[in-house]
Amino acid sequence: MTTPYFRPRRLRTTPALRRLASETRLHPAELVLPLFVREGASEPMPIQSMPGVVQHSLDSARRAVTDAASAGIGGVMLFGVPTVRDAIGSGATDPDGILNVATRALVEEVGDALVVQTDLCLDEFTDHGHCGVLAADGRVDNDATLMRYQEMAVAQASAGSAVLGLSGMMDGQVAAVREALDDNGFEDTSVLAYSAKYASAFYGPFRDAVQSTLEGDRRTYQLNPGNRREGVREAQLDIDEGADIVMVKPAGSYLDVLADVAAMSDIPVWAYQVSGEYAMIEAAAANGWIDRRRAVEESVLSIRRAGADAVLTYWAVELAAWLTEERA
Ligand code: PBG
Repeated sequence: MTTPYFRPRRLRTTPALRRLASETRLHPAELVLPLFVREGASEPMPIQSMPGVVQHSLDSARRAVTDAASAGIGGVMLFGVPTVRDAIGSGATDPDGILNVATRALVEEVGDALVVQTDLCLDEFTDHGHCGVLAADGRVDNDATLMRYQEMAVAQASAGSAVLGLSGMMDGQVAAVREALDDNGFEDTSVLAYSAKYASAFYGPFRDAVQSTLEGDRRTYQLNPGNRREGVREAQLDIDEGADIVMVKPAGSYLDVLADVAAMSDIPVWAYQVSGEYAMIEAAAANGWIDRRRAVEESVLSIRRAGADAVLTYWAVELAAWLTEERA
C-alpha cells in the first residue's frame, strides 16, 4: 500500500474549509442584466426561446430596473426593439427612439443605484438587420457605419447612458465613438468594447428577442470562432483606441480567449453569457436533465474563474438573490 504525501483533499473536507479555500467567488455587484425594451408594448411579452426573459414595456422595465437595484447587481444593459426599421437605422439616433427613451426613463428611475448602459449597434434598427449601413453592392460599409455610431453615441450619452456597449465589430469603432463623445462634452461617458465578439450560433435566441430581420450572417465583421490570437489582437486594438473596458462574447465557449485577454489587459475585462448559453441550461433544466441552480452558478463562476471581472448574464438578478441568501 502506498501512502500519498500530497493530500489536496484536505482542504475539501468541510464546507467551511472549502469556502475559505475558494479561489473565485461571485458577488452581485459584478453582474449585469441585459434588458429588452419594446416600443409600443403595454405589457411584458415573453420570448419563446428564452423562458423567463421578456421584452419589456417601459413600465415593466422601470420595475425590472428597480428590482435589479434592490438585488444589488452592478448594472443593466439596454436593448431597444423598435416598431419601424429602415436602411440606416434612424431609430437608433432619434432622441424619441425606443432605446433613448428607455434610457432616460430608467436613469430617472434608478439614479445612481446601478449603472444604466446601452447597446451601441444598428442591427435592431435596420430593416436589413445588419450591424451597419450597407454600401451599394450590399456589403456592410465600415467607415460609413462609424459615422452612424458617432451619432448614436451622442444620442445615447445625451439620454444618460453611462457606458456604451459597442457591439457592432466595425474596425475603428472605439476611436470614432471616443472622439465623438469628447467633442460633444461627454468625456465621462465610458466605452465598453465588445472586442472579441465571435460570429456565434449562440446568439440564436437573441435574434428572437429583438425580432431580428437579418438574412445571412455577420461573418464579414464578427470573428471566426476558430481564431484565438485574433481575439486578443482585437482587444489590444480597442485598448489602444481608448476603450475603458474590453469584452469577450460569447463567454462559455470562449474561455480560452477570455483568459488570454485577461492576462494581457490593463483595463477591466468583461464577458457576455449570451442568449444561447442561457437557453441551453434552461432547456436542459426544464427537462430535469441538470440541476438548474447549480448549472447556472457553475457556468457564471467558470466565466469569472477564466478572468472576467464582470459578467453580463440573463440570470443576474436571480443569481444575485441566491448569492445574498447563501451569505445570510
Ligand atoms: C448586437 C448584439 C447581439 C447580441 C448582443 N448585441 C446580436 C448579434 O450580434 O447577432 C447577442 C446577445 C445574446 O445572444 O444574448 N446588437
